[in-house]
Amino acid sequence: MMVDIHSHILPQVDDGASDMAEAIAMARLSVADGVRYMFATPHHNPYESLLRSQVAERVAKLQYELDTAKITLTIIPGHEVHLYEGVFEDWDKNLAGPLGQSRYVLAEPDFFYFNQATDDLLAEFTARGYWPILAHPERIVPIQKNLALIEPFLARGGITQLTAGSLLLTPDSPARRVAETMLREGMAHILASDAHNITHRLPGLTKARDAAAKIIGLEKATMMVMTTPMAVVNDEAVF
Ligand SMILES: [Fe+2]
Repeated sequence: MMVDIHSHILPQVDDGASDMAEAIAMARLSVADGVRYMFATPHHNPYESLLRSQVAERVAKLQYELDTAKITLTIIPGHEVHLYEGVFEDWDKNLAGPLGQSRYVLAEPDFFYFNQATDDLLAEFTARGYWPILAHPERIVPIQKNLALIEPFLARGGITQLTAGSLLLTPDSPARRVAETMLREGMAHILASDAHNITHRLPGLTKARDAAAKIIGLEKATMMVMTTPMAVVNDEAVF
C-alpha cells in the first residue's frame, strides 16, 4: 500500500481543496491509485496557520466523511512547515508541527531563496530531535541552479521529497531535470503528490513511481512510495 506524505486535502484551509466535495474526490482518486495513508499538510505560512489541534479537528471531520462514504483512506494530521526566520516561534506556539506524532517534519523552503540561513533552520530541527524532510527541492529555483546547496543537509542524514508531478513534466523543464538528477545520484527518498485539487497537481503516485522506475528500477521506486513513507507513519528511522 502506498503512503502520500504531502497533500492539501483539507477543505477551505489554504490553496488546496475548495470544499468537502473536492476533498472527498481527491481521496477517491488517491484510493483508486493505491494510496492508503495520506498526511494532510496545510501550509503553515504565509497562509493563516492552523494550530495543530485545529488541523487534527479538521482531519477528524474529513475522516468521518470518508468513513461514511466507505473510502478506505486514513488521513493523518501534519503541516507543511515553511522555513523562514519565524518558524520556531510558530513551532513553539503549535502553529506548525511534525507529521502525525512522528519525529518527521515536512519542511518547505522559499521557492526563490535557499542559503546558509535556510540550512541552519533545517539543522535546528535536527538539534531539537526531529527528522526534517525537505519538500520538493527540485522546484526551488536556487537548488535547480546549484544542487550542492542541499549537500550539507543530505550529509546530516536529511531526507528529500520529490513532487510526483515533477517527473511528469516535459523532459526539458528544470524541475524534472533536477528530480531525475537527484534520483540518479541517490539524493531523493520519497515521492509525494502535494495534491491541491482534482484539476492540477492531482492525487496519485503510480505514474510518478513508474517514471522513477525507468531511472532507478522498480524496486527502489516502489520504496519511495511505500517502505520509506511508511516509516514516517510508524515513526521509524529510514537510514
Ligand atoms: Fe505543499
